[in-house]
Amino acid sequence: MADTIAVLSQKGGTGKTTAVRTLTDAFRRSGLRTLAVDLDPQGNLSDYFDIPPDAEPTISDVLAGRAQIGEAIHEDLVPASLTLAEAELMLGGKMGRELTLRRALAKAPEEYDLILIDCPPSLGLLTVNALVAADHALVTAEAQYFALQGVEQAMEVVELARDGLNSELSFLGVLLNLADMRTVHSREALASLKERFGEQVFDTVIRSSIAYAESAERARSILDHRPDLGADYLDLAGEVLARLPGLAAAGERLARLR
Ligand SMILES: Nc1ncnc2c1ncn2[C@@H]1O[C@H](COP(=O)(O)OP(=O)(O)O)[C@@H](O)[C@H]1O
Ligand SMILES: [Mg+2]
Repeated sequence: MADTIAVLSQKGGTGKTTAVRTLTDAFRRSGLRTLAVDLDPQGNLSDYFDIPPDAEPTISDVLAGRAQIGEAIHEDLVPASLTLAEAELMLGGKMGRELTLRRALAKAPEEYDLILIDCPPSLGLLTVNALVAADHALVTAEAQYFALQGVEQAMEVVELARDGLNSELSFLGVLLNLADMRTVHSREALASLKERFGEQVFDTVIRSSIAYAESAERARSILDHRPDLGADYLDLAGEVLARLPGLAAAGERLARLR
């Protein structure tokens, strides 16, 4: 069974989609077969991987029961589009609404080692579905004032999922993203997260750079667009693998890519 990681935060702009895209690239380079799932109606992850906007079926069809997960995989990605907003509304009225994604992913092809889920920028039903379907939760925080508050809100939803429908869910860690450690905001954000979450905060901090917007626009991984910056994500991927029992060998292969 694939290890499934949900990447979430309580708002947009914390670098979730970029983290899912780039961790997926790093894991694939380490030889792990990785499926990326776009669970945001904005479909940014699908765009970033350059999946045609009319690719069908999408995650909406899977959640609505119109397609199997295997049919909705396009180049190792399950895309999303605005129809996901409708699918979310429809889910709201169904029995077992929090379990829908979990049931769908249980039928994912056996070949995958890892599944990464890119959550929408809110803590609603779609994010709850991701947390119920996942084995691990990774929370991203923008290195700004109020970073701690945002992470605490995301953690409450992680706890709810754990106390309710997914007692096996593990908290993988908190990522400080879009950081400029020359600024007092970024340093204070890191200090407050470390004070509250200790070792659960990844040592790797993702530096902020305009190059990320360019790489997203060109649908080109930051690992290729700016390897000097991409090194942050290779480090992060190594830390993530070190926290996933059973994937340490891939972590060692990744370390050799650095
Ligand atoms: N490390 C970074 N430095 C600067 N900009 C970034 C970084 N990571 C992502 N971005 C940019 O910030 C914006 C939000 O990132 P995104 O990954 O879409 O966040 P989210 O999915 O949390 O909304 C995008 O324009 C993206 O290109
Ligand atoms: Mg996003």
